[in-house]
Amino acid sequence: MSEKLAINGGTPVRPNPLPAPYPGASAYDEREVEAAAEVIRAQSPFRYYGPEKVLGKAKEFEKNLSEYIGTKYTVGVTSCTASIVCALKAAGIGPGDKVIVPACTFIASAGAVVAAGAVPVFCDIDKSFTIDPTKIGACVDKYTKAIIAVPILGNPCRMDEVVAEAKKYNLIVIEDVAQSMGSSYKGKMSGSWGDLACFSLQINKMISTGEGGAVSTNDAKLYERAVRYHDHGMFREKEGFLATNAEDDIFLGQNYRMSEITGAIASVQLSKLPGMIEQFREYKKMMVDALSEIDGIELVHINDPEGECGCTTQFMLKDKETCEKFIAALNAENIRCFCLYGGRPTYMIPQLFYKKTVDPSGFPFNQFDEEIVYSEDMCPVAVDLMPRTVTMTIGVLHTKKDIEDSIAGIRKVAAAIL
Ligand SMILES: Cc1ncc(COP(=O)(O)O)c(C=O)c1O
Repeated sequence: MSEKLAINGGTPVRPNPLPAPYPGASAYDEREVEAAAEVIRAQSPFRYYGPEKVLGKAKEFEKNLSEYIGTKYTVGVTSCTASIVCALKAAGIGPGDKVIVPACTFIASAGAVVAAGAVPVFCDIDKSFTIDPTKIGACVDKYTKAIIAVPILGNPCRMDEVVAEAKKYNLIVIEDVAQSMGSSYKGKMSGSWGDLACFSLQINKMISTGEGGAVSTNDAKLYERAVRYHDHGMFREKEGFLATNAEDDIFLGQNYRMSEITGAIASVQLSKLPGMIEQFREYKKMMVDALSEIDGIELVHINDPEGECGCTTQFMLKDKETCEKFIAALNAENIRCFCLYGGRPTYMIPQLFYKKTVDPSGFPFNQFDEEIVYSEDMCPVAVDLMPRTVTMTIGVLHTKKDIEDSIAGIRKVAAAIL
């Protein structure tokens, strides 16, 4: 006989919900306070000039992130969404172009493509929830210019294969590392494989300044264009930078500049990231060891267990109905879990599915000599896996006891439901 579930009036596995999952923000302490205070005391929150001395905090963060990821250049921006737009514009992508985006990602990966004036084309995922490199070729046509690869919740993409496919079709590779800063694949950091990489500092992310982002690259020309695009077409700090034809290549940009306060906090957060990942991986191993023994649960495939952030556990159940029941029952046990993106592939979000942009003309979907059509079943693996997968996150406030409770909750619910 299985134990009575909390959802049916039984005693929950734990009396209170698990701690908040926000990894970076939950790790805030006096160091972030001091970093922000230093900028405030100096009355110098703008990165390029100020009343007194510019502290160079945004610049310092860019250097720190480049060193950590293993790229030559980074520019800090206001969000990852902004960083994807900058990356696309740096690569010269715009109206009349198509960009391959995975069927499972946050809406921003596709929304930024539309903001850049291009159109997203969706590529199916595999059992890792990341882009299936073997399906990229079928997504390519004469309009396709780039691929955005998205490591999901700390799980890196098979970047060697993505890059090889991109080479075949002459596509730019952009890594949207928003959810997975610090992950690596085959010993190489996520964000160092492609032509450009994009990062987020929003509150759900591995490190956080509330809002913020960055674009990173090894290519001087792409960097220079990203800098120009993020700052009204200007490149203010080019001393010591070897780009050659900066003056020939003028264009208007936007304002996606990072503030000094963001830069200061971001550097402190980045210094905490390796320690956080080490802890997450230890907890993740406890989850994997326990869950591997439960019948009816299939863990989402991790492309490189040594390179994942370890901040998430995901497992697949037999169908959507079982998954919905499981999630409701586990939450009632005070073990937080959810169905990622409501179980819907990205292209099923109404704005995308119906191609609703802010422009009544239908731009940018009207730039092709064929209609762009998104159909419900176009990425069958995503359609199958997403609604039947349970997602759980691990945060820095979690203790070993919280992980043990999570495992106990999953065992209890599995015994009653599966
Ligand atoms: C994969 C992915 N890309 C982009 C973003 C957008 O990040 P931001 O909120 O910094 O614009 C997110 C945020 O959730 C994300 O998960």
